[in-house]
Amino acid sequence: MRIVLVGPPGAGKGTQAAFLAKNLSIPHISTGDLFRANISQGTELGKRAKAFISEGNLVPDEVTIGMAHDRMTQPDAANGFLLDGFPRNVSQAEALDELLKSDSQKLDAVLDLEVPEDEVVERIAGRRICRNDSSHVFHVTYSKPKVEGVCDVCGGELYTRGDDKEETVRKRLDVYHRETEPIIDHYKAQGLVVTISALGKVDEVTKRAMEALKGDK
Ligand code: AP5
Ligand code: MG
Repeated sequence: MRIVLVGPPGAGKGTQAAFLAKNLSIPHISTGDLFRANISQGTELGKRAKAFISEGNLVPDEVTIGMAHDRMTQPDAANGFLLDGFPRNVSQAEALDELLKSDSQKLDAVLDLEVPEDEVVERIAGRRICRNDSSHVFHVTYSKPKVEGVCDVCGGELYTRGDDKEETVRKRLDVYHRETEPIIDHYKAQGLVVTISALGKVDEVTKRAMEALKGDK
């Protein structure tokens, strides 16, 4: 399956993607995680992306689309992928349509995670991620690590993302409404959108998502 996950910052895209990707045996491709890995490795791409991310702005399309396409065309993604955080504006969605068409592929579903704004603010305020791999995500109340400050998966140090400061989160939410929400209509026109509530426990949301995706096949 080829799936796009969409939803505001803090909706639980990364959290759900980890479980959905495992259940569906497809790789989880997060452009945010790819950028953070590039930043921590000090690559040229990471240096270009850093200022945009820390301000809560989108990284320019000419950097993002190539990076996402490189990852989508790796051998482990030959039979499908779960995109998290890409596409994030209509021009990225149009570019993805073209890239898939030229590879004779198509999307199966766009899973839209709906969460009220006060809930995402609380989720982001308590989020801690792993220094070794930003796809290892915890929450101080809702998804506690076994040992405080230590990643359950790899033992790495947990920290608060630089762009999780309150004023940057507000900016990211504005950018989401202005730039990213319009992709939902873009995909509704293709009959691909499945909307679910992302409220409730993590495993309840995963179950809801799996049922919605199955119903969509
Ligand atoms: P990115 O890393 O994609 O950030 P985002 O979209 O803002 O989303 P988040 O990662 O903040 O939230 P999430 O939905 O993954 O929630 P999570 O699972 O962590 O992008 C970062 C930046 O990179 C962008 O601002 C931009 O600058 C750049 N970028 C990335 N892609 C780009 C693109 N395509 N184009 C241009 N620029 C791009 O969950 C949040 C918290 O809630 C966690 O603590 C979790 O434990 C907790 N939680 C999860 N589910 C539940 C639940 N059911 N109940 C209670 N708590 C829960
Ligand atoms: Mg994420």
